[in-house]
Amino acid sequence: MRVAVTGGAGYIGSVVVEALINGGHDVLVIDNLCKGHRDTVPKLARFAQLDLIEQADVVRALRGFKADAVIHMAAFSLVGESVASPGKYYVNNVTAGIALLEAMREANVGRLVLSSTAAVYGEPAKQPIDEDDPTRPTNPYGETKLALEHALRWYAGAHGLSSISLRYFNAAGATATNGERHDPETHLIPLVLQAAAGTLERVTIFGDDYPTRDGTCVRDYIHVEDLADAHVRALGALSEPGICRAYNLGCGGEGYTVKEIIAAARDVTGRDIPTAVVPRRAGDPAVLIAGSSRISRDLGWQSRKSLDDIVTSAWQFMSVRAGAP
Ligand code: UFG
Repeated sequence: MRVAVTGGAGYIGSVVVEALINGGHDVLVIDNLCKGHRDTVPKLARFAQLDLIEQADVVRALRGFKADAVIHMAAFSLVGESVASPGKYYVNNVTAGIALLEAMREANVGRLVLSSTAAVYGEPAKQPIDEDDPTRPTNPYGETKLALEHALRWYAGAHGLSSISLRYFNAAGATATNGERHDPETHLIPLVLQAAAGTLERVTIFGDDYPTRDGTCVRDYIHVEDLADAHVRALGALSEPGICRAYNLGCGGEGYTVKEIIAAARDVTGRDIPTAVVPRRAGDPAVLIAGSSRISRDLGWQSRKSLDDIVTSAWQFMSVRAGAP
């Protein structure tokens, strides 16, 4: 298949591009590089540095590439920033997202896989969370992703666009070549590993008074390679027009607390990891665990990688990069 990947030079995007190329697909990466890194784009992929808001340019790129499908991963994704700057999130995630849907319509591209998020659920009433549970985002990030999911329903009805929205829980880990290179870094696992490496003085634990087994927040961490596999499977499920589905992507089970993640990183790295407990971060739900049985049933997807695989791969990636110029 000929697949255009928006945000394909970002963290998850770069791993999805790797998986597509390994699966024999032709790839066009569309990225404005405001967050992504040009050096992640493999030689076998084409690259277009474009802003999705520039609809005519995107139409030209999709037509020139003869795209069969789009994986749309270009978006802002920081909860705290979205609360502070909602307009930035509405413009980039909704306005540019709709411009992409319009460009796809003009270029006659009828299949889309959307990066969505567990943030669409807000403070869930029950765990694990199922796709039919209420979606009540508590921040503009989740709200803007949900807005695009809703738009897809109307595009399916009006134009026959086929789409699958993948609601990621906590993506983490790395491949041999691609991993987290955020600036600034806000995610738990890379920060914990920076503390292990000595480039961060200590890990701040955001609250230890949650109603959980050790007082710290529980999250469902999923290896980025397992996420990428789900995207490839989702593409294969879009052969008919008018499909519109959403799937959770997590490992389920009991999840891991912040303290358990730090303990796992101590085991993997053999290093001391200094910590300090600080007050809760605004907007953090106590527990987020995915019910992922729907995607297992429909697409035969299952997570294969363990927490140890996640932390080990992230540590290897960070160690190799530390040696890089
Ligand atoms: N945490 C700390 N200290 C840190 C960083 C994080 O204690 O320095 C804690 C957080 O409070 C949270 C957990 O570690 O309990 C994970 O935090 P991350 O920032 O790594 O990830 P989030 O769970 O906040 O965010 C993820 C995705 C978002 C998505 C959200 C859904 O990165 O895109 O899940 O709630 F919106």
